[in-house]
Amino acid sequence: MNTITVVGTQWGDEGKGKVTDYLAQKADYVVRYQGGNNAGHTIKFEGKKYALHLIPSGIFKPACINVMGNGMVINPLALCEELEGLKKAGIATKNLKISAAAHVVLPVHLRLDHLSEERKGSNSVGTTFRGIGPAYTDKASRTGIRMGDFIHPHRLKRHLKSMASAPCEDTLYEQLEAAATALRPLVENTGECLYKALLENKKVLFEGAQGTMLCLDHGTYPYVTSSSPTAASVALNTGIPPQAIHEVLGVTKAYTTRVGHGFFATEFSGNLADKIRLQGHEFGTTTQRPRRIGWLDLVVLNHAKRVNGLTSLAIMLLDVLQGVHPLKVCVAYQLDGQRINDIPSSIDDYQRVEPVYIELDGFNDDISSVKHYEDLPKPAKTYLKTIETLTGVPIGIISVGPSREQTIVLHDYFMKK
Ligand code: IMP
Repeated sequence: MNTITVVGTQWGDEGKGKVTDYLAQKADYVVRYQGGNNAGHTIKFEGKKYALHLIPSGIFKPACINVMGNGMVINPLALCEELEGLKKAGIATKNLKISAAAHVVLPVHLRLDHLSEERKGSNSVGTTFRGIGPAYTDKASRTGIRMGDFIHPHRLKRHLKSMASAPCEDTLYEQLEAAATALRPLVENTGECLYKALLENKKVLFEGAQGTMLCLDHGTYPYVTSSSPTAASVALNTGIPPQAIHEVLGVTKAYTTRVGHGFFATEFSGNLADKIRLQGHEFGTTTQRPRRIGWLDLVVLNHAKRVNGLTSLAIMLLDVLQGVHPLKVCVAYQLDGQRINDIPSSIDDYQRVEPVYIELDGFNDDISSVKHYEDLPKPAKTYLKTIETLTGVPIGIISVGPSREQTIVLHDYFMKK
């Protein structure tokens, strides 16, 4: 089966948008499998900029079928707005399919997200306020509504009535009904459609949102999102056999960033962090929040290797490290006088780890127009080799700038017959 799964290996914002955009050029199907419009990436081409939050990246390629899987939580009003924006820009959106089993994010979920964060005070998660947690809570509590029911006015009405604690005003109902009518033709059993595509050996790209360390199970709980962005969740969240997932590309920033709250071991602040933030445009696509900055953490990357079965790496934003001396890389943690190589499951323990660093030479050359690996400066190559050696995962893509052309590709993706 000809599939590639793209996952973030850190706390999201690793540059998955650029990688999925590149791979989408070769794919027949692009599939989002979890999260909702808490995600966001910007795609630039033909001099225009497009921000996607819910719709898969293959939407710009007319022959590509884009699927929103059952593991997603979908805000229908936000989705209609995103579709409208694309239509206005002349992008055809008919190649979009929405799983009938995906859950719906309703306006009440956004209100609950705000309330929950307020209630947590200084322990708040720093969510994107898109109602993601409350929508997944309703799913797990078996009180949510799926897209396949949402698109039937009487079922939607019945559901809204059943939410006694959150009465729905008439105007809101009308907006939701209009969205339901607009989305109705796109809703289907996408699991069946994907299974057929796999049997026909179509090229299917599974596009992860967020990152492994934000995984509800394998991330830094409770400072996580409410779904699993890992490759392990693809089968569950799209309705295809687990055997279909074999090639997994882990997207990794050459350093670390995080938005929202919660500890990360290699964080630093000051002039260097400010320089990297500016150089790397480290401000959130969805919320515009400044991202926190840290050194590359190989304990995190090896954790991501294990839980995702990474088969190759994409190292992003390497150009941003130009002029940083020395380059520090975290290779282990110290906890209670012991050296450890894994992520403690308890956040109380994780918050006490001290990073163990090695230091490597930095590079001064501008690498943003380098096209071949051999032409990278020696210290940059040593940095990359160190990542490969200490993770055992080969690097398949190196990104040296935001545009499609600023990409060094070392591996043939989607070449399997
Ligand atoms: P939620 O997903 O909005 O509930 O937010 C939970 C945590 O995940 C917060 O720390 C958010 O900042 C973080 N988060 C959610 N989506 C993204 C993303 O796409 N990139 C980076 N962080 C994210």
